[in-house]
Amino acid sequence: GIKLVTIGGGSSYTPELMEGFIKRYEELPIREIWLVDIEAGKEKLEIVGKMAQRMWDASPYDVDVHLTLDRREALKDADFVTTQFRVGLLDARIKDERIPLSYGMVGQETNGAGGMLKAFRTIPVILDIVEDMKQLCPNAWLVNFTNPSGMVTDAIIRYGKWEKVIGLCNVPVHAMMAEPELIGKKPEELTHSFAGLNHFHWHRVHDLNGTDVTGEIIAKMHEDASGIPANIHEMPFFKEQLEQMNMIPCGYHRYYYRTEEMLAHMLEEYQDPAIGTRAEQVKQTEAELFELYKDPHLDHKPEQLSKRGGAHYSDAACETIASIYANKNTHIVVSTKNNGAVPDLAPDDVVEVSAYVGATGAKPIAFGSLAPAEKGWLQVMKNMELCVEEAAVTGDYGIALQAFILNPLIPSGETAKRVLDELLIAHKDHLPQF
Ligand code: NAD
Ligand code: G6P
Ligand code: MN
Repeated sequence: GIKLVTIGGGSSYTPELMEGFIKRYEELPIREIWLVDIEAGKEKLEIVGKMAQRMWDASPYDVDVHLTLDRREALKDADFVTTQFRVGLLDARIKDERIPLSYGMVGQETNGAGGMLKAFRTIPVILDIVEDMKQLCPNAWLVNFTNPSGMVTDAIIRYGKWEKVIGLCNVPVHAMMAEPELIGKKPEELTHSFAGLNHFHWHRVHDLNGTDVTGEIIAKMHEDASGIPANIHEMPFFKEQLEQMNMIPCGYHRYYYRTEEMLAHMLEEYQDPAIGTRAEQVKQTEAELFELYKDPHLDHKPEQLSKRGGAHYSDAACETIASIYANKNTHIVVSTKNNGAVPDLAPDDVVEVSAYVGATGAKPIAFGSLAPAEKGWLQVMKNMELCVEEAAVTGDYGIALQAFILNPLIPSGETAKRVLDELLIAHKDHLPQF
């Protein structure tokens, strides 16, 4: 039997994960699940943990769900560790959204100034987890969703020296679910090829004759926005730009390709007290979800969870674990070491790419070089990420400032420095390294 550990177990997404494992039990025989959280998340852990146990009790399978605040107890002899924690919880995310916006910049969980601060808070914690894993479960696989998932995964390998890791995101899952329908195909009639970074990748699509159907999908995207996760405003891309690149950008590219419009939309919503920032909206959804989870009769994932942007992330998570365990070599889009798949970046850079996932982890599929426009973006974004990671590890102010100045969502100058300073102060309780 498999011992599975989930760090950040008090997340409202946990039922999504349970559903994915119940569905795959026959190929992935889990014996015990340990949900780990911290004092600040204790109440959430209790509620969602009982809900998780009810889901297993309603299934034909005999699995025990353990709840603990003792991470080391949980990690002992684990086979798979998944991470879905949020340092500082949603209140920290509200600051990541509001503070940049108050300076006229995109305020977002994984992009711009907010995304960089989330990395500063998260990377030291994940590196501690890795140190515990070296002692307590040196053969385990680490499956990370904690955002910013690409930078966190890169830091695990680069600074934690832990290679058995796969980073995940639900955005590619959404695209692969929604696009076939746009052009009247079934999912198994299309092949998707992804390359880039987490929340900054592009993809091409082919049919089973090898014909490139990317352009057909681009044409339809302008009539139907169903592939966009719930948390991203549906601002259309410029059609001429997409046709020129003949690739489909990920939903988050909107923040870069249409910064003016996305910012204007954000300012409008966030300044309206009836709407608020995304984290403020999510706080309400979360409260509703936890009310439902308290119901002792509820034993399946409620529909309301699909209001969260991360809906369907268990498809990536559970399929990755099942593919490693049963050496399935499934096509999954993952954050993993490049190893040449995207020649425009270094071999040891973590990229988000199509890969075959099996017993030895992820084998990235070669995508090839990008054209100048996309290559330029990619190289700036990856090197910005590397500055962020170095700042997160060292607490060096100079490299943090370099990252801010390099980040395309932050105009350079005095304001860049002021927004960095305000964020460092606002989050100081979670930034011991600075
Ligand atoms: P959340 O605010 O509910 O946090 C989850 C839990 O993490 C909380 O119960 C919290 O107490 C706990 N936590 C905080 N610090 C911890 C620590 N040091 N150790 C253990 N637990 C800790 O967050 P959420 O909205 O459920 O999201 C969880 C994380 O997953 C976030 O980082 C989010 O960005 C990420 N996420 C990623 C994807 C993806 O596509 N990769 C999808 C959904 C969510
Ligand atoms: C998904 C992203 C996740 C992100 C989530 C935010 O689309 O892939 O990485 O965490 O959206 O959703 P939320 O409901 O928290 O805004
Ligand atoms: Mn994601």
